[in-house]
Amino acid sequence: MKSGCLNDAGLNASSLILGLMRIGKMTDSEIQALYGSAIDVGINMIDHADVYGGSRHHCEARFGEAVRLTASQRDGLIIQTKAGIREGYFDFSAKHLMESVDGSLKALRTSYIDVFLLHRPDALVEPEEVAEAFDRLHAAGKVRHFGVSNQSPGQIELLKTAVKQRLIANQVQLSITHAPLVAQGLAINMVGLEQSVDRTLGLLDWSRKEGMTLQAWSPFQKAFFDGPFIGDRTKYPELNDALDDIAKTYGITPTGVAIAWILRHPARMQVVLGTTKSTRVREAAAGSDVVLSRPEWYRLTRAAGHILP
Ligand SMILES: NC(=O)c1ccc[n+]([C@@H]2O[C@H](COP(=O)([O-])OP(=O)(O)OC[C@H]3O[C@@H](n4cnc5c(N)ncnc54)[C@H](OP(=O)(O)O)[C@@H]3O)[C@@H](O)[C@H]2O)c1
Repeated sequence: MKSGCLNDAGLNASSLILGLMRIGKMTDSEIQALYGSAIDVGINMIDHADVYGGSRHHCEARFGEAVRLTASQRDGLIIQTKAGIREGYFDFSAKHLMESVDGSLKALRTSYIDVFLLHRPDALVEPEEVAEAFDRLHAAGKVRHFGVSNQSPGQIELLKTAVKQRLIANQVQLSITHAPLVAQGLAINMVGLEQSVDRTLGLLDWSRKEGMTLQAWSPFQKAFFDGPFIGDRTKYPELNDALDDIAKTYGITPTGVAIAWILRHPARMQVVLGTTKSTRVREAAAGSDVVLSRPEWYRLTRAAGHILP
């Protein structure tokens, strides 16, 4: 397992993050087993959001109840959570952000959040209000580091006009099959080509230039929560052949290859796993240690349907 992520913030985070969006209906022992398997393979960071689990703070509370962290276990764990999504609207008001953090602290049974992300861009954002919330949360010792999710370079630049703390991470959707972040750059300036449309506003290269860590969510999903591409031979026969071949080469599984594809990118991203199965956590960890060759990386990229003009 690679580590050294978020090092500029002094965090030394693992390249894989255990995402806990899907644990809402799991039992205590299932959550303990999932978390234990992540710790065993060297994952030292978890990802939550106030909105995960249906009712507010539900998944955070299930984790807090099931995994009663000792003081030393808490010290060794990087807890990330998010706020800003409400019922039918987005809300970056200072009041909401501060209330949400208080709810997260209570649910997670901890006195501080390591990394707090603004979940999805609020069109009505006032950067000064976000700055006020961040200052107060930081000064009170409730949040140590800040970041964003699903935001463009321009939106981040706008926040930076008022926010004093460094924004250390941006969590965005990326898998081999859902890859506008990467694929658009392979085909810029091609008239009539869908892949050429810039949906991320240059986010990938901008993030590298800024030294801002990208965290890839939904690493196994075909597109937006529509199921995994692994094993879907109807829609992705060529990709599944490539995943199987490369998995065999390295003695890992297609799940591991899907992770290796993301981590091979020199942006040094983190990957947020959403699996509820310990087996898949271990398979992903095995993949995180593999460095794909250029021909392998590009074969997977082409097999997923992305064009190299
Ligand atoms: N910032 C944001 O806006 C945002 C949005 C969404 C998610 N997230 C974060 O990212 C994390 C990951 O998102 P995600 O859960 O969508 O990602 P994911 O890891 O791509 O998807 C996990 C889901 O796919 C299933 N799956 C994976 N591989 C499979 C396979 N080979 N065969 C059958 N099923 C398979 C898993 O089932 P099993 O449980 O059976 O393995 C699970 O239901 C979340 O936990 C959350 O922390 C962030």
